[in-house]
Amino acid sequence: MSTVVDFPLSNRATRYIEQLSGYEKAIKRVNQDAFHEQINPDGIVNIGVAENILMCDVMTQKMKEIYDQHPIQAEDLNYTDFSGSIHFKTAVADMMGKFVFKVEEKLNPQHFVTFNGAGTIIEQSVCMFCDPGDAVLIPAPMYLAFERDIIKRFGCVLIPVFMPYDKSSNIFVLDMDIVEETLNKARSDGIRVKCFLLTTPSNPLGDIHTEEEIKNLIDFCAKEQLHLISDEVYALSIFDKNQKFTSAAQIVFKDKELNLDYKHVHIIYSLSKDFSLNGFRVGILYSRNEKLIASMRSISPFQSVSRHTQALLTHLLSDHTFIEDYVSENERRLATAYKNVTDILNSYNINYVNAKAGVLLWIDLSEQIKKKMKKQVITGEDEVKFFELMLNDAKVYIPCGDFFKCHHEPGWFRICFTARKSEFMQFAFEKVFKWLSSE
Ligand SMILES: Cc1ncc(COP(=O)(O)O)c(C=O)c1O
Repeated sequence: MSTVVDFPLSNRATRYIEQLSGYEKAIKRVNQDAFHEQINPDGIVNIGVAENILMCDVMTQKMKEIYDQHPIQAEDLNYTDFSGSIHFKTAVADMMGKFVFKVEEKLNPQHFVTFNGAGTIIEQSVCMFCDPGDAVLIPAPMYLAFERDIIKRFGCVLIPVFMPYDKSSNIFVLDMDIVEETLNKARSDGIRVKCFLLTTPSNPLGDIHTEEEIKNLIDFCAKEQLHLISDEVYALSIFDKNQKFTSAAQIVFKDKELNLDYKHVHIIYSLSKDFSLNGFRVGILYSRNEKLIASMRSISPFQSVSRHTQALLTHLLSDHTFIEDYVSENERRLATAYKNVTDILNSYNINYVNAKAGVLLWIDLSEQIKKKMKKQVITGEDEVKFFELMLNDAKVYIPCGDFFKCHHEPGWFRICFTARKSEFMQFAFEKVFKWLSSE
């Protein structure tokens, strides 16, 4: 008779296996039972994950040309600077300066670090700012994976700064008084707050913070000795022509006559969203803080971008004419996809926050929850229950506000309008409303 011998893993591994957030549990289910027209037609229809397939044809064609014109070299098989080769970082610096920061100055490539994704950059930079137990302030609703990035591995604390919903203007407001109150409350609870993480354009709101708001935050963080991380991964996806995106870096450059060195302002960017390159795994950090850059370089061997990928993307990022055309075509397609999805939402009388940028839409299902739960007023628990029912019974995945720490305003959900064709979005909402009208 054979005996089963257990070879225990660390407590950390047990924690990683057992302590999953609501979002992680849900996405595990979605991946195990994903809808496929032929193979799994009764599977879960996913309209919640942030991807942009709208430009895959253009990007695939461009990458094919680069592969053809620049065959792999022997040197691509070797190691390079793990934080990014100088060629790659120079191409990154030139592209970022021209398109994202929109500044005249030539940027120093040594102020950049590239890792395998913005998620990694967030996790690693927060771990450089915070010891375990130190906290990061983040406006809520917030990108749902910040919880994973900030808490999971390094035990830092995430404190939401609740943004109230202003019904009359249909926006979630970043109120500096609430920022200050939240900071003071954390401090009086004995928590050391080390940074503020802003996302502009916002995930999940699709909103853009104004130059004035960002400037106020830069000054506030300087006064309060906080690092300001500005996550700008949707910077080149501004589809509302009346809107202007301002990078925190642009403000820093503008103010240089003040002779401030702005060592507390750090910009995060990614090729995942604006360039439809999620699978390539490229995240970018820009900072003038030498200590941060040195610490990130020191851990770079654990998460570098493959050298061959760097070589290919050096060609891509150096082709500014292509990027210019690509960005305007992407923004045109985003505007069309946004119009299509809002037509669908309007046809079902679903309220939403008007998005201006990015690939996401923040929708209000509170009326549908009230009907389903037969209640006048709903709570956060009702929202989560509704989410689970929609996943189990309607077989549609639309992540709920709880995952985004939107605990002060129950009933909101997030969809991504660029991960699938608009007919697929129509199909998903038909499934939801068929389920809602059943019973
Ligand atoms: C705001 C925000 N930051 C970071 C990321 C992570 O991007 P990456 O694919 O580069 O890790 C995402 C992805 O959805 C995001 O929406």
